[in-house]
Amino acid sequence: MKINLMDDAFKGSNALLVGVFEECNCVGCCDKAQGLLTQLKESGRFNGNYGEIYTVNGVGEQPREVILLGLGKEKDLNITKVQNLFGKAFKKAQELKLKALDIASFKVEGLCTFRILKAMVEGVMLANYSFDTYKAEKSKCTVEEINIDPSGLELDNEKAEKALKEGMTLAINTMLARDLVNEPSNVLTPTELSERAKAQGEKCGFEVEVFDKEKITELGMRAFLAVGQASYNEPKFIVMRYVGDPGNRDEIVGFVGKGLTFDSGGYSLKPSAGMQDMKSDMAGAAAVIGAMSSIAEMKLQVNVTAVVASCENLISGGGYKPGDIIKSMAGKTIEVANTDCEGRLTLVDAIHYIISKEKVTKVLDIATLTGAVLSALGKITTGVLANDDEFYGVLESAAKKSGEKIWRLPIFEEYKECNHSDVADLHNQGVGGAGTITAGLFLGEFVGNTPWLHLDIAGTGWANSTAECQSKGGTGVGVRTLYYIARNLSQKSCETCK
Ligand code: BES
Ligand code: MN
Ligand code: ZN
Repeated sequence: MKINLMDDAFKGSNALLVGVFEECNCVGCCDKAQGLLTQLKESGRFNGNYGEIYTVNGVGEQPREVILLGLGKEKDLNITKVQNLFGKAFKKAQELKLKALDIASFKVEGLCTFRILKAMVEGVMLANYSFDTYKAEKSKCTVEEINIDPSGLELDNEKAEKALKEGMTLAINTMLARDLVNEPSNVLTPTELSERAKAQGEKCGFEVEVFDKEKITELGMRAFLAVGQASYNEPKFIVMRYVGDPGNRDEIVGFVGKGLTFDSGGYSLKPSAGMQDMKSDMAGAAAVIGAMSSIAEMKLQVNVTAVVASCENLISGGGYKPGDIIKSMAGKTIEVANTDCEGRLTLVDAIHYIISKEKVTKVLDIATLTGAVLSALGKITTGVLANDDEFYGVLESAAKKSGEKIWRLPIFEEYKECNHSDVADLHNQGVGGAGTITAGLFLGEFVGNTPWLHLDIAGTGWANSTAECQSKGGTGVGVRTLYYIARNLSQKSCETCK
């Protein structure tokens, strides 16, 4: 599917998609059949309500098909909704078996026009995603061409081109992350994940170094190694470096992604119902690989280093066991109360490594860490812990740009007690409830004074619905938010919107 910019959507020749606000009474100059909208609204057939879709055949003198897309009330519209609306409209175009679609654009009070255009692009592209690698019958996309007319946004050509490029890059890399999450664990082993990261590095322009078991052992990452020690497929530690601001080498943003290619729970075995979804326990790794790809492709003027400690959590005679005490790379000892609390063991070595060896000045980890975040925030919102208000502010503004929802959880001193062990420095299974907070604070024990953000995507990393821009499976959550964090911290932040 190709996406282009076009001059005047109302004069185009393909089917036309027009957004209509609830409070609006015209469909631009397309409304040659005077009063079409008034008529539709009076008869109650189409009101412009949010998400409503109405198809008219042959408006005015033109025989072309027009899809009216209800935008709802202008004041209620935001970036996520714009994405979702265009995702929904795209699925309608597919259903109508359209070959090509012209899209008119519109301004929204309070929303950056640049971002609206990107959201339109992301919406249609993500709605077109499907994971059919292993199906004989591939899902066919009838829509070969999409032409977006940016004139309704009053964006000059150069800016519109840039928005199109940024939107496409982010959509492509979000889909890459979805693919990685959807790949089954027999295919996507730690080695395969590292190979895919290398391929992205070559394609997009960042350096990738992969440490094997020997090197990981040499570095002293015993907590990470303990988790992977039951498995036949060896662990890999993936380091990705992008230097976009060489004059400022002391400032490096660090991303850490959880990379369990499968989590059976180990001896603290998970129930079989739903265990298959644990191939998605590397969604954090997928997000950082997608974000690094986007950052490098857009050539952001910022330095970013990302790491993934990738392994499988399985069972065998050599596996780690409840009650084991292991020494992390940082030197702190950990009592393994539960082998299913493995994510934090892999992450603390990765966090210690990225701070002490890669010298990052800020660190963000993103992980499918706790089922508890699903109870707290469902599949809508990513749970966040932060030790630094300013860095949290950067995330908040990034999430507004990406449209991904986040919520900050409290880290009161009292919660730290929950990770207390009688026999080691830390206990890997927090007690007293608040599982998302105690798991996050466990990681927090390894960041020192470095500004740190923790994103728990156990709820948002996987979708059960095919509505709007979604498809069942990996969501690619985090790719866009992490990209915007890097962009917010870069020398040249967006000229159009801060
Ligand atoms: N990978 C899981 C968390 C998870 C749960 C991700 C559901 C995606 C969907 C993590 O390693 C885990 O097993 N956490 C346990 C911790 C518990 C035993 C304290 C959990 O949340 O159940
Ligand atoms: Mn687990
Ligand atoms: Zn896990």
